[in-house]
Amino acid sequence: MADADPLDDRKHEAAVAAVAAHVRSGTVIGLGSGSTANHVVREIGRLLGSGVLREVVGVPTSERTAALARGLDVPLTTLDEHPRLAVALDGADEVAPGLALVKGLGGALLREKVVASAAERFVVVADHTKEVDRLGVRAPVPVEVIVFAERVCALGLEALGARPTLRRSADGSPFVTDEGNHILDCRFDRIDDPEELGRAIHDVAGVVEHGLFLGRAVEAFLAGPDGVRRLLP
Ligand code: A5P
Repeated sequence: MADADPLDDRKHEAAVAAVAAHVRSGTVIGLGSGSTANHVVREIGRLLGSGVLREVVGVPTSERTAALARGLDVPLTTLDEHPRLAVALDGADEVAPGLALVKGLGGALLREKVVASAAERFVVVADHTKEVDRLGVRAPVPVEVIVFAERVCALGLEALGARPTLRRSADGSPFVTDEGNHILDCRFDRIDDPEELGRAIHDVAGVVEHGLFLGRAVEAFLAGPDGVRRLLP
């Protein structure tokens, strides 16, 4: 028998609660990426299979999520077909007060941010270990850059106080996103003003997107040993 994974149980609980609260039949929804978002996709697949939900169509935020959804018979569509989504549910690497987030350790931050911005409601699902007092204490800020500009971007990000590291795959080669870009994981001594930092990162030529998700989430479902807490901004 497989070992129990309490943290994975928490992720599952957060996903089940968020789907029950936010996913309705006949809607088009954003499907996040990562181990917690995978639980969301499985739960939607289960509810579609049992007939509790009907005619839910998803826009996946990564090729991995798309493959998982296909395997579970969760119908998929594109933002070209449906540029407005009722809700998007996704995980996070850090959840700070005001539902300020760091996302992108799974490498899908670009499509995740686009899908989050296309959704009427962007909802976060996570286990309690993701909760932080301030952004940047637990996770680096992932910054997606075009390959051509990687070194230039690293220098530009260093000028903002970052210590960028090129993300690599398990075989040592640079990690390549679904959009064909690289990721610089940026550690900062302290992030005092995430909005200002986000603007400054965007100003670095060659940066495509960063993993600071600010002012977007309307609710977070955080599961811990004492159950699921629902947090508002
Ligand atoms: C994917 O790019 C990320 O933004 C994920 O949503 C985030 O890394 C959380 O992943 P886990 O649920 O696997 O921790």
